[in-house]
Amino acid sequence: MTATAEVSTGSRGAQPPVPDGAITVTLKIRRFNPEVDDEPRWDEFEIPALPSDRVLNLLHYVKWYLDGTLTFRRSCAHGICGSDAMRINGVNRLACKVLLKDLLAPKGKQTTITIEPIKGLPVNKDLLVDMEPFFEAFRAVKPYLITYGNEPTRERIQSVADRERFDDTTKCILCACCTTSCPVYWTEGSYFGPAAIVNAHRFIFDSRDEGAEERLDILNDIDGVWRCRTTFNCTDACPRGIQVTKAIQEVKRALLFKRI
Ligand code: SF4
Ligand code: SF4
Ligand code: FES
Repeated sequence: MTATAEVSTGSRGAQPPVPDGAITVTLKIRRFNPEVDDEPRWDEFEIPALPSDRVLNLLHYVKWYLDGTLTFRRSCAHGICGSDAMRINGVNRLACKVLLKDLLAPKGKQTTITIEPIKGLPVNKDLLVDMEPFFEAFRAVKPYLITYGNEPTRERIQSVADRERFDDTTKCILCACCTTSCPVYWTEGSYFGPAAIVNAHRFIFDSRDEGAEERLDILNDIDGVWRCRTTFNCTDACPRGIQVTKAIQEVKRALLFKRI
């Protein structure tokens, strides 16, 4: 279950002892509280941290010891659940997968890390965005096995080669890093976005599925695959290493040549 670091009473715990080898880093966080702010603002926090810390650890430090009102989403803390996507130094990343050692300024300079909510989705508070438009697009492509006719009496057999055909797109954790790094999605929020297409791909190319035509019809829409301009931002952003743009191209080809 995804936990959301919600508004707390603001009470702070006693700060823990600073560990040996810690350095001081500045976290510059984009804040927005719709109850009091007209516009987003920046807050800065000075934090002792180890190079082996993840950005999520630094956010926890702020939340637990400096400002209990900081709001963000996270759950597994191990790159599995996809709930802590955010813009870290201008790049979409999972906060639990980014190590401080990879963000350090050159020796002798102060390290500043900027953290903002992912772009293109409404901000509820601070780093917490409303994921509903993202999941609406995901649901619209029917991301589940569709079959017609009688129930089988045994499991649906698939060859290793047929399973391999869509292996890459099974790895999606619905973090939204791809969709919210897409310039087309930023300007035209009605575009399905790469994550929805990836999840359509996962079933379109599944030999057991019989719903490919329906999904291809859906993605042939004005807001479908043809909006993609092949800029590869989505592929670069994916924390699972999925070849997102390639999957989109394969769906385009399936539409053009009517061959799956
Ligand atoms: S390749 Fe297509 S979907 Fe991916 S970021 Fe670029 S325009 Fe968006
Ligand atoms: S394709 Fe990659 S970046 Fe996009 S939602 Fe899935 S895991 Fe996240
Ligand atoms: S908290 Fe689950 S992926 Fe980062």
